[in-house]
Amino acid sequence: MPPVIITTWKFGLAAAHTGWELLAQGAHALDAIEKAANVTELDPEVTSVGYGGLPNREGVVELDAAIMDGATHAAGAVAALTGIKTPISVARLVMERTPHTMLAGDNAKRFALANGFVEEDLLTPQSLARWEAYRRAQSASGPDVAHFDDLPETHDTIGLCALDRYGDLAAGCTTSGLAWKWPGRVGDSPIIGSGLYVDNAVGAAAATGHGDEMMRACISFRAVTLMEQGLTPQQACIEALRYLMRKRPPERCGLYGAAIIALRRDGVFGAAATCSGFHAPNRLWQWAVASEQGVQLLEGVYVTPDTVLPALSS
Ligand code: GLY
Repeated sequence: MPPVIITTWKFGLAAAHTGWELLAQGAHALDAIEKAANVTELDPEVTSVGYGGLPNREGVVELDAAIMDGATHAAGAVAALTGIKTPISVARLVMERTPHTMLAGDNAKRFALANGFVEEDLLTPQSLARWEAYRRAQSASGPDVAHFDDLPETHDTIGLCALDRYGDLAAGCTTSGLAWKWPGRVGDSPIIGSGLYVDNAVGAAAATGHGDEMMRACISFRAVTLMEQGLTPQQACIEALRYLMRKRPPERCGLYGAAIIALRRDGVFGAAATCSGFHAPNRLWQWAVASEQGVQLLEGVYVTPDTVLPALSS
């Protein structure tokens, strides 16, 4: 089976590259997902994931992450984790060393520290300055103004799906969530079926975008189920987003961006994003693919509730 890894966003290129190198050397999909996600988590320039991610409204960086193994259907997740730069690695240990699927908050940190992780400051000078500017703007405009969608990178999760040479799939998702979120807010990313889902018999999917909207539609589970019903990965991504938009119409729920990537067990992949939120001149929906054909950055497809499914072709 020729390996392949797909990731959300342009900043996912470096992660895809690392994941592909590992897969090409014979790594398992689960390891490739974890190590690829770590690349983004540790990059201080990515302001929506891991170290350097923008904090909550009180200036604390709270991280959500999850990982899922298609071969065993095992999954692990952490929510509202503070002080640890690589939350997806903690999520993996939740999967491997506890009888549970998700740990949250201070107890997730306790678990991480007990398992050898080191507590570190996740704010960079840049993210601290951004939070201070937000606080100043908030004091000027009143305490209840939510500035969630006025920044280009307030909720750009990295989602990843990989297929290894053994025919096994895995998926991951890791984020600092919405900038300026309420303390304790957990988005879609660590929720199995919402931020990510994988079934070795079918395929994998992972999501990015406004988690408070997307988590109400479990779109990763839906995309995998649609592939199981015979839709191509591209069709499944489009149809999962059309479902979300039917249930949570942007005109009723406010402008929001949502996107999903999917990888079928035979290596065929697809992706789609909503037009609102993501389809702006300075905010294109891009995603990365790394395979034997090289590493590529792709754009689109953009979906509205009226989008017609492309014909079944692969
Ligand atoms: N999708 C990331 C979040 O909303 O937290």
